[in-house]
Amino acid sequence: MVVHHDVEMIVEDGAVKEIGKDLGSPEFEKVDAGGKLVTPGFVDPHTHPVFNETRELEYEMRVMGKSYMEIAEAGGGIRSSVRSLRSANPVELKMKVKKRLDRFLHYGTTTIEAKSGYGLSKESELNSLRLLKEIAQDHPLDIKTTFLGAHEYPDEYRDNHEKYIDILINEMIPQVVREGLADYCDVFCEEGVFSVDESRRILEVAKFLGLGLRLHAEEFKPIGGAQLAAKLGALSADHLVAINDDGILALKEENVVPVLLPATTFFLGSDKYAPGRKMWDVGLQVAVATDFNPGSSMTQSMPFVITLACLKLKLTPLEALQASTINAAKSLRIEEIVGSLESGKQADFIIWKFNRYQGIPYFLAFQSVQQVWKKGVKVWESCDNC
Ligand code: NIG
Ligand code: FE
Repeated sequence: MVVHHDVEMIVEDGAVKEIGKDLGSPEFEKVDAGGKLVTPGFVDPHTHPVFNETRELEYEMRVMGKSYMEIAEAGGGIRSSVRSLRSANPVELKMKVKKRLDRFLHYGTTTIEAKSGYGLSKESELNSLRLLKEIAQDHPLDIKTTFLGAHEYPDEYRDNHEKYIDILINEMIPQVVREGLADYCDVFCEEGVFSVDESRRILEVAKFLGLGLRLHAEEFKPIGGAQLAAKLGALSADHLVAINDDGILALKEENVVPVLLPATTFFLGSDKYAPGRKMWDVGLQVAVATDFNPGSSMTQSMPFVITLACLKLKLTPLEALQASTINAAKSLRIEEIVGSLESGKQADFIIWKFNRYQGIPYFLAFQSVQQVWKKGVKVWESCDNC
């Protein structure tokens, strides 16, 4: 990542035209960043914003000693969000999701990947993606969408996994593709959820029908999700807390982007973080994301994720910034458009309240974003100045 000092940036038609010293063309409207840090807008490559109610009671159960998987097995977790989403009022749901997307902007995120996955029926999954598409039409965020019908087995197919896989493969994925509702397909590949073989069958169909592949892999147990991601040529393998050396090697061989989610580990109260330093050192293009969701990561803040990436994944502040911008864009195959400030790319940037990039992880739990610009237009400003 290149750091420039005392430069100007010319923005034209929403794109960066030039960055350099003393460009000073008088015909342009000038914005003075006041000597403050300017970075690319964050790209958050793993979020779950389409849910109805929050789950703070579960949070309390975890604080009192229950594990994420114990809560899930007792009918809480993802399946409780499914029941809630299916009975949501569509107008209220739209307002809630829109507000959640606004908050990404306030923390400097200008592009997100957003998944379905709390519907788990054809109707409710398709509606989740349609809702994202509808909101995206007039929201400043760029939103890339992911079909995550294989997030969990819904209650009605608890004892008939084959039937649900059949619906995913023969009904849901083809319809998602026909309506152009998703860019990618994801599966929660984990012991007790979708096995490696079940995940493979689902993802092969998605790939055949033209979707990019992502995987929730090796979050709790190293069951071979990383190897599967590599074998299928997935764009990303996400979580990877429990990944082993064979898994790391497999990702490296196929250039799969590891998307690490340290806010999830933190929020689940665990001390075991993904081996971010090791993955960076073998040459993987490590990315980070919030994993924003009601169960395991209730935050839209990439600055907080960057703090954790430094302290827990052992990345340097500059590496963590790269992981949350250009590497995150690579995991979505949109690195030609966003993720860095270079000639020809979208003028998506943040003006910060301080002047050094080290301030991003350092000013913890502080609203340190001053302004957010998307395609050359100011879309958010901190209230200190309004
Ligand atoms: O990415 N790991 C699986 N899915 C989500 C959690 C979803 C939930 O608990 O509602 C995640 O962490
Ligand atoms: Fe997730």
